[in-house]
Amino acid sequence: MEIKFSEETLNLVNKIIKRYPEGRQKSALLPVLHLAQAEFDGWLSSPVMDYVASLLNIKPIEVYEVATFYSMFNTEPVGKCLIEVCQTGPCWLRGADDIVEHLERKLNIKVGETSADGVFTLKTVECLGSCGTAPMLQCGADYYENLTTEKVDMLIEKLKTSGQRNTYMKSNRQEI
Ligand code: FES
Repeated sequence: MEIKFSEETLNLVNKIIKRYPEGRQKSALLPVLHLAQAEFDGWLSSPVMDYVASLLNIKPIEVYEVATFYSMFNTEPVGKCLIEVCQTGPCWLRGADDIVEHLERKLNIKVGETSADGVFTLKTVECLGSCGTAPMLQCGADYYENLTTEKVDMLIEKLKTSGQRNTYMKSNRQEI
């Protein structure tokens, strides 16, 4: 399958690239990777990263090193709902471990795995900047805070029926 942005996304990518002087297209890498992840099933395969490199006129390795550095980019396939539980100090003190264990039991997966139906992937991440409402998790663009196991149960039910792939952007067309 040929890897290619939709025309609409490509227009947006070109607009982002034009923000930077000639020869500095690499500066557009982060927003273009977010668009790529949103458009290509929530993760960045090697062909997708190579495609992004060609658009920005940089070497593929320059894309790989950025994509593998940030936890917001997935270089392996993920489920429609990527659940990222904060495990840093304040969340840990307020029971993040219990939330993770509860999710593992409920989804029948371990951290880093995707459920058999392809709907949920569970990850743990470092501080998401919402320490005052610990423990918390992120799913797509949304934060779920002051978590309890009951709230997690309600969230899973809601996500199961939403059917939509969660991305960090509210819409694939969002300019970032
Ligand atoms: S420690 Fe969890 S959001 Fe900051």
